[in-house]
Amino acid sequence: MTFTAVFLTAILMPAAEPTAAQGAAHVSLGMNSCTASACHGGSVTATGRQREWNSSYTVWASKDPHADAYAVLLGDRSQRIVARLVFPEKVDPKTTPKEYQSFLEKRCATCHATIGEGRPSSDGFAEDGVSCASCHGVAGDWLGDKHAGRKSGQMKVTQQLEPRAKVCVVCHVGSPAHNGEPAREVNHDLIAAGHPRLNFEFLAYLNSLPAHWDLEKDRQRVRQPNGVKKGQANFAAEAWLTGQFVAANAALELLEARAKADGGTDKDHAWPEFSEVSCYACHHDLRSQSYRQKLFQREKPENRRSPIGSLVWGTWYSPMPRQALLAQQPAATNDEDSWRQLERAMRAIHPDSKKVLALTAALRPKLVPPANPLQTVERLAKNLSALQGDWDEIAQWYLAATAWHQALREEHLESQKNGDPVKSGEREAALRESQATLEKIRRQLESPLEFDPTGEAFQGAVKLLLQQLAKLEG
Ligand code: HEC
Ligand code: HEC
Ligand code: HEC
Ligand code: HEC
Repeated sequence: MTFTAVFLTAILMPAAEPTAAQGAAHVSLGMNSCTASACHGGSVTATGRQREWNSSYTVWASKDPHADAYAVLLGDRSQRIVARLVFPEKVDPKTTPKEYQSFLEKRCATCHATIGEGRPSSDGFAEDGVSCASCHGVAGDWLGDKHAGRKSGQMKVTQQLEPRAKVCVVCHVGSPAHNGEPAREVNHDLIAAGHPRLNFEFLAYLNSLPAHWDLEKDRQRVRQPNGVKKGQANFAAEAWLTGQFVAANAALELLEARAKADGGTDKDHAWPEFSEVSCYACHHDLRSQSYRQKLFQREKPENRRSPIGSLVWGTWYSPMPRQALLAQQPAATNDEDSWRQLERAMRAIHPDSKKVLALTAALRPKLVPPANPLQTVERLAKNLSALQGDWDEIAQWYLAATAWHQALREEHLESQKNGDPVKSGEREAALRESQATLEKIRRQLESPLEFDPTGEAFQGAVKLLLQQLAKLEG
């Protein structure tokens, strides 16, 4: 496993292809309650848009990556990860099956199976992987009356975007133990042993799940805060912005749990924790005239994030929420101060955990997304120069530009539906061209170690993209 490969699993996979389901291969007792053909185990019909509720299980079992999440733990890659983590104890699935199993349960199955939802993995349901209950809650609690289950809070809310994103981040960002739920984290130990780094971005991940729900209904359901029906157009912008804030909050919660572990005996978390810090602060080639040096020289001293050579914190989850809040209040605000102070505190090799906790406590209540998602994503996508050029930040910018593109495409489709063929061909061409430029940019981001944000190829593609997208506005 090369360093680059560890990164790339997560950067924007192409959207899942809508193909016919191949029948359910993954039947087990744990989901018996959901999988009858009259309930969620029906077959997928070619035309049956209204029947998604009925085929949810079939789609999940045959196409959803979550169905294999537990099986992955028994494969070669996981065996290598475990061997590296517990060396020299040598927990081996063949010679020490019990020890291997209990290690998996403690460190891995918390995210790779449905546990913590009121049941241990040892009851035999673990092999269901990340199943219905992980996202919808334990069926026993609400079976028979889903509406009552929703009202009483036993069934998790997934209809609205904010609670939905909160369901995902528990595993895709990580979370401390609470309410009987176990701690879940992928720290630098796991990453160094070969686990993919978790680079979650809600919209991209949502797009790439094979939907077992009615997408049209889902888009129509998204409403503006004042209750006005917004329709399809802003779904992408709304999901992107919501996901940014929910993920940033989850990352800060995890940072708090790590800071609280400072000097204590907490076995779930460690302090300091390398995975809090930009990977490229430590992992990069040495070259004369590196882009880091160039970027540093270019910045005005007051904008410089940190002295050259120091650690850089928060490059994945904070750049976009931070810019979104700044765009609302352009002058240097208290919000910006909290981010900056936190960044400064996290520069230290052993950051002052008390100070970090005070700063996260000040910052978290301010993490409220602006009320205008479409304008926000547009503004941020247009302002690449506000970022400092770390691969993480540029990848987040790319995801924002992709979200804006998707929002513009949805707007276009909506206006066509409303019988507005004016300039339709022109807009379609502009959408196609900008899509191709986005793909060019994605390819440049494929290798973090070779990526140069100051390079002509990258700068040229960005300029072209912004020109193409400007044509689509209005
Ligand atoms: C905090 C939750 C979490 C924990 C704990 C966790 N994982 Fe994962 N794991 C994930 C997620 C999420 C992915 C998918 C990453 C992605 O593509 O974004 C993943 C992916 C993987 C993959 C790659 C799967 C593939 O299809 O290529 C392997 C292998 C893996 N995990 C093994 C393990 C092992 C072994 C452990 C325990 C030592 C473990 N995981 C602990 C969340 C977790
Ligand atoms: C109980 C933990 C858990 C929850 C909750 C969860 N996931 Fe996952 N997810 C995983 C694990 C583990 C994997 C890796 C599975 C594998 O590779 O087999 C994964 C994989 C994925 C993948 C495939 C990633 C890749 O690299 O191919 C996507 C997309 C995804 N999840 C989206 C979501 C979304 C969207 C939500 C919320 C609606 C969500 N997940 C909720 C644990 C979870
Ligand atoms: C990774 C998280 C995740 C998993 C696992 C998952 N779902 Fe869902 N499910 C969602 C999301 C997100 C939606 C869309 C929002 C909604 O309708 O609540 C959804 C929607 C649904 C719907 C409503 C469909 C419609 O359009 O009317 C049903 C029914 C459903 N899921 C059943 C299941 C069943 C059965 C399983 C297990 C086989 C399952 N889900 C597993 C996330 C998940
Ligand atoms: C504070 C410095 C530091 C940071 C930040 C850091 N690492 Fe590491 N990493 C190390 C050290 C030290 C080693 C051990 C090197 C060795 O064994 O040669 C290591 C080892 C690794 C390894 C295994 C060895 C290899 O080169 O393949 C991987 C993979 C890895 N880190 C990935 C990451 C990722 C991904 C991030 C960001 C989430 C990250 N690291 C952040 C210092 C760091």
